[in-house]
Amino acid sequence: MRRRLAAGNWKMNGTRQNLPEIAALAAAHPVAAVDILICPPATLLAQAATLAEGSAVTIGAQDCHPAPSGAHTGDIAAPMLADAGARAVILGHSERRADHAETSALVAAKTRAAHDAGLLAILCLGETLAQREDAQTIAVVTEQLRASLPDSATATNTVLAYEPVWAIGTGLTPSAAQIAEVHGVLRACIAEHLGAPEADQMRLLYGGSVKPDNAAAIFAIADVDGALVGGASLRARDFAPIIAALGSA
Ligand code: PGA
Repeated sequence: MRRRLAAGNWKMNGTRQNLPEIAALAAAHPVAAVDILICPPATLLAQAATLAEGSAVTIGAQDCHPAPSGAHTGDIAAPMLADAGARAVILGHSERRADHAETSALVAAKTRAAHDAGLLAILCLGETLAQREDAQTIAVVTEQLRASLPDSATATNTVLAYEPVWAIGTGLTPSAAQIAEVHGVLRACIAEHLGAPEADQMRLLYGGSVKPDNAAAIFAIADVDGALVGGASLRARDFAPIIAALGSA
């Protein structure tokens, strides 16, 4: 039985004045039927972790460097994130693959660094609209998985997030059949890479325009173990109904 996960990605949004959203979420969820994760900007990690302490909400980061320390001005190492109170880190998000030309090889190195620091890696994959229209979706996501997943990955330290690039921040979502197809293929691929027991246990999130009004339908799809939520995670009043929908899925 896979424990479901509602993960929020604040991206480059939020200053200290937004911390009450995390406090509200924590107050509303002293315990929860699902795992709850909020990934604020790095500047807010330590304060967010303090606010979430003692609740069902855990705090994660949005990126890390592959090295544990060193001369890398402006970068943040995975052990630093853990020290700030992060328990997880999002890696390989399409915005980082696009904005920072991150390759799957780099994502694999970062994922291994996250594992070494004891962080849960939330590894993102997804096709562009051009790739979907060209019937390349399965080829793209399976290649991203093969090249981004280090051999340190297990069902305990890694979660996959299928995020079609064209669904992120657009209000568009794939059909249930399209999500089910990709998640089914990903689970079969994990079985090939890590073996059937890990594949059975690894959580697969869907991400891209998950909102309170479409969450229940998405969580009813086979092989969807939760969501990675951008815009609708910024306010507790939007994220809480998504958490509730996952809890009753
Ligand atoms: P969105 O973002 O929910 O705003 O579409 C999802 C993501 O990029 O993780």
